[in-house]
Amino acid sequence: MSVSKRVKQIRKSAIHEMTRLSAQYDDVAFLSWAKPTSGTPEHINEAAIAAIKNNLTGGYSQSDGLPELRKEIVTKLARDNKIEANISELLVTIGAIEGLAAAVMSIIDPGDEVILPTPTYSTHISQVELASGKPVLVPLNEDNEFAWDPESIRKAITPKTKAIMYCSPSNPTGTVFSEETLRNIAAIALEHDLVVITDEAYEYFVFEEKKHFSIASIPEMKKNAISCFTFTKTYAMTGWRIGYLHTDQELISQIKKAHIPFAICAPVVSQYAAIGALKGSQDCITNFKEHYFKTRNLMCERLDELSDVFSYTKPDGSYLMFPRMLMKQDQDSLQFSKKLLKDIQVSTTPGIAFGPTGEGHIRLSFCVTENMVNKAFDRMKTYFQGRKT
Ligand SMILES: Cc1ncc(COP(=O)(O)O)c(C=O)c1O
Repeated sequence: MSVSKRVKQIRKSAIHEMTRLSAQYDDVAFLSWAKPTSGTPEHINEAAIAAIKNNLTGGYSQSDGLPELRKEIVTKLARDNKIEANISELLVTIGAIEGLAAAVMSIIDPGDEVILPTPTYSTHISQVELASGKPVLVPLNEDNEFAWDPESIRKAITPKTKAIMYCSPSNPTGTVFSEETLRNIAAIALEHDLVVITDEAYEYFVFEEKKHFSIASIPEMKKNAISCFTFTKTYAMTGWRIGYLHTDQELISQIKKAHIPFAICAPVVSQYAAIGALKGSQDCITNFKEHYFKTRNLMCERLDELSDVFSYTKPDGSYLMFPRMLMKQDQDSLQFSKKLLKDIQVSTTPGIAFGPTGEGHIRLSFCVTENMVNKAFDRMKTYFQGRKT
């Protein structure tokens, strides 16, 4: 079969593999999903239904998105991200993912290097590979709450480096890069004229005193930042496939050329739902955040009961955490996750899915109900106690 080298080199997603395996069991306690289990808020559904009833959704929109939606996004970026955007600097995309893919495709020539943290969201790595770029994985410091040391980024720069790509808050570690770290990364990017591609999917889910910072709010980064956002997590809209990208005018006209062959435009019904989301009450975000804060704390308490099996860093953001397994057996994370699923029907994501330094960990998601967290941990507690005797 003549499959391209580009595609062949991409590893099968361990995330989707665990979802497939989980479907073979009944009564699974799911800690492996990164999708909110609460439904999309009703006023957003209603905005979409009204658009359908008014016959607005049957055709394509402008490829860069409905002007009314982009106008709302301009307001949101100024209010919440301190990014001064213009309607013509925005591209509405199929979730954050398509924006990220279009950005990578537009920046990377074959052999160009992109610096990413490890562990990181594995799709970012695949996107670089799909563009025939080379992912250069620079470890986060697990001993310092998975912080990213800008000096380690500087050391990884070569004449082939084109971009730095990260998500903050992070999938899988829940780390929120500090403003100071991001200002240092921006300074390095400007010094070497690199593009910084950000994935801010979890921008609103940041706990206690931590703050989300958008690197594009630094005025000097205007021409060097491509910022990707999404409605997916913020408004529990995973299935609507709707997000957006912001960058400088000159670059966006190039990125649009990469967007069209993949998408033509984002789903129009979802664009109307997104207008409903931005114009309507934002209480749902507060409610989701309060829920994730509670389930994060519960998960940490339950992990404390298993301190001879796991150690962990309390996540400051997202709804994900990345405990390390303190197992004696010579087991890798994929075997560990598969065994948990087979023996006690607890579904987790193996750490190796997130880069080489993810090995030895599992990713747990706390965007679930408290009952689901307790069900999974009740089973694990009995299981691990039983195994020691
Ligand atoms: C960091 C990160 N970026 C992007 C996505 C996907 O976003 P979207 O649904 O907007 O494409 C996910 C989903 O899990 C994610 O964790």
